[in-house]
Amino acid sequence: ACFSLGVMVTMNQRLEADTLLLVADEFGFKIEFSDADLEESITEVEADAPEDLLSRAPIVTVMGHVDHGKTSLLDYIRKTNVIAGESGGITQHIGAYNVELEDGQRITFLDTPGHEAFTAMRARGAQVTDIAIIVIAADDDVMPQTKEAIAHAQAAGVPMIIALNKMDRPGANPDKVREQLSAMNVLVEEWGGNVQSQEVSAKIGTNMDALLEKVLLQAELLELTANPDKLGQGVVIEASLDKGRGYISTVLVQSGTLKIGDYVLAGTNHGKIKAMLDERGNPLETAGPAIPVTILGLDGAPTAGDKFRVFTDEKEAKTIANKRDQLQREQSIRTKKHLTLDEIGRRI
Ligand code: GTP
Ligand code: MG
Repeated sequence: ACFSLGVMVTMNQRLEADTLLLVADEFGFKIEFSDADLEESITEVEADAPEDLLSRAPIVTVMGHVDHGKTSLLDYIRKTNVIAGESGGITQHIGAYNVELEDGQRITFLDTPGHEAFTAMRARGAQVTDIAIIVIAADDDVMPQTKEAIAHAQAAGVPMIIALNKMDRPGANPDKVREQLSAMNVLVEEWGGNVQSQEVSAKIGTNMDALLEKVLLQAELLELTANPDKLGQGVVIEASLDKGRGYISTVLVQSGTLKIGDYVLAGTNHGKIKAMLDERGNPLETAGPAIPVTILGLDGAPTAGDKFRVFTDEKEAKTIANKRDQLQREQSIRTKKHLTLDEIGRRI
């Protein structure tokens, strides 16, 4: 029946819902679909009791047009707010970090390389960001990527804070930028709107404290909480293969607490956490809500945006990982235009 429908399949291959309907119809059957979403079925979301919810650090993403100063802004904040004395000069790319401000308050920054990562994560159902800082160079215009960033933040329902950067430049004209923003219905506070904005210079550090104050103010309004007292779960920020250390994954804990020795399932990968490191490579024993950590011990590199969860039952984690892997492989075969005999042979 499948062949007559033009669907080339082998006997043990899964079919898409549409095909299933057609095939069943051929034989006079009707199909009733039940919810088979693997993701849903493993994340039985138990509501946390209100008394278990503790406040957590806000998770902030920095977005904006090319060269408007996203990296400079993040670098400045990291330089001035990490506790000094660690081995300096670490220049490797870091996907996420948590800073402690002078008064002990904490903010987690996600250094997503452009909006693609933000969108990719959202597309995979991972809503990780609480607040978006939109960086706009005050000596430039509201550019296409600025508009895109704003559109993404709005679509995700994430409050924005506009950082009018490069104020040290002679050509800086923040009013022109505010006007352009108002033309697209983004009204900053100075103009009677409700979007916070701050003039800054990421290069020389002007008003960076004030910007962070605004982030904290916004965070307070959001009343961000999480339950740290359960098995850890969250989202994969990035993952790669390190020559010396094997697969390393940077993950963001969203609730619960992640510990060394925990058995983790992340996307199609799994494994026992052998080591955990903070963004500067210092070892950690545990990581609670809103804390990004690099973990060692997974059997592969999960995809950015994959959810992860700790399992008490190692077998269960492996079974789910294998099922997902199988589904993914079948999916990738099906989406290929020309299936070769050789490929069919390999999958049986
Ligand atoms: P992409 O990652 O390529 O999109 O750029 P970016 O937004 O991360 O910009 P980046 O921080 O790399 O800054 C781009 C250039 O602008 C660099 O040469 C910075 O030194 C410069 N720059 C960033 N912030 C400021 C600022 O406040 N003042 C001045 N004068 N220059 C700045
Ligand atoms: Mg950059």
